[in-house]
Amino acid sequence: MKILMVCLGNICRSPLAEGILKSKLRAHGIENVVVDSAGVSSYHIGEKPDPRTMKNARKHGIDLSDQRARQFRQEDFDRFDLIYAADRSIYNALCSMAQGPEHLKKIKMMTEEAFPGKMIDIPDPYYGSENDFESVFQLVDTSCDAIVQKYFVKK
Ligand code: 4NP
Repeated sequence: MKILMVCLGNICRSPLAEGILKSKLRAHGIENVVVDSAGVSSYHIGEKPDPRTMKNARKHGIDLSDQRARQFRQEDFDRFDLIYAADRSIYNALCSMAQGPEHLKKIKMMTEEAFPGKMIDIPDPYYGSENDFESVFQLVDTSCDAIVQKYFVKK
């Protein structure tokens, strides 16, 4: 299984989602899952995650320092099984890049498994306060918990 997390810049929400999901899979002893992240924009290609995102994640024991931003590319539709969008604008951007139903069916909201059918956005914290980074962490954490439960925890 290969999972891609996608936001706008690939420096706040999606690197956090990548780090949190990897950490949860590790904690459950689940291997053979590839988790990556990307941004739909080219704004921050090659950059480390935003220092505020890294600081907040570190507070929760998650290290994002090895990540570097990259842009979403067309071949990601074939490389990944599930493509999670941080908010509706990213969801719509991905849908408009999809070439056919095989691509479209891979695209979901990052919050979908936690809040099915609700289309809940992970708000962009870039222009926000320290509190916004913490609330983004909590929502991404809840979302990743639900992904692990749905796909990887045998019931
Ligand atoms: P992200 O946050 O999409 O969660 O990585 C943002 C990062 C940068 C910008 C916007 C959102 N920006 O406008 O540069």
